[in-house]
Amino acid sequence: MKNFKIGDKLTRFPLIQGGMGVGISLGRLAGTVAKEGGIGIISTAQIGYKEKDFDQNTAEANQRAILSEMKKARRISPDGIIGYNIMVALKEYASHVKAAVHAGADLIISGAGLPTELPALISGSKTKIAPIVSTDKSAKVILKYWERKYKRTADLVVIEGPQAGGHLASTRKSWIPIHRKPMTMRSERSSRL
Ligand SMILES: Cc1cc2nc3c(=O)[nH]c(=O)nc-3n(C[C@H](O)[C@H](O)[C@H](O)COP(=O)(O)O)c2cc1C
Repeated sequence: MKNFKIGDKLTRFPLIQGGMGVGISLGRLAGTVAKEGGIGIISTAQIGYKEKDFDQNTAEANQRAILSEMKKARRISPDGIIGYNIMVALKEYASHVKAAVHAGADLIISGAGLPTELPALISGSKTKIAPIVSTDKSAKVILKYWERKYKRTADLVVIEGPQAGGHLASTRKSWIPIHRKPMTMRSERSSRL
């Protein structure tokens, strides 16, 4: 794999920077990664924590920051591939996805639960979508669900193994053996990547 293609944009390296919430992967990091030739990811988890009214109006502060962090990233990398990590477990999941689409996300990656409604939430936009899965079973469940309900599949699939830092539900036993059968969980469209 030499690079990734998202829509008509191409990375220089096959690298996606993981979303890291609560102020770690914001616009500056994502924009810089995109400028350097990877895919930059802004995490929306408590993204608005620097806003003055965050304690009183948390949901609104997060909404504003979803937009402003993308603007920041775009100033650094106008043409790079920049997306969001939006955890399904967030209370404001649907509104974060809509705000991310509005901000011009190239890609939305969603884990910490199965993003069953993600295709409907991005419908009509060019934003690409990716579920994060940590077991073979969860990959099959979400891809079959999207196929049945929305007649579409994922643009790419993020596989989290047991050694990844973050939000895992997998054990070594249930881990997808990617070195042996990577294509079994990939759809035709995601295999283009
Ligand atoms: C500090 C920190 C914050 C993270 N925040 C998120 C997050 O908001 N959403 C998410 O889906 N994953 C989150 N993750 C998981 C990362 O995106 C990534 O999937 C994980 O760290 C695996 O990559 P690694 O093996 O290179 O660490 C976080 C990880 C770290 C270390």
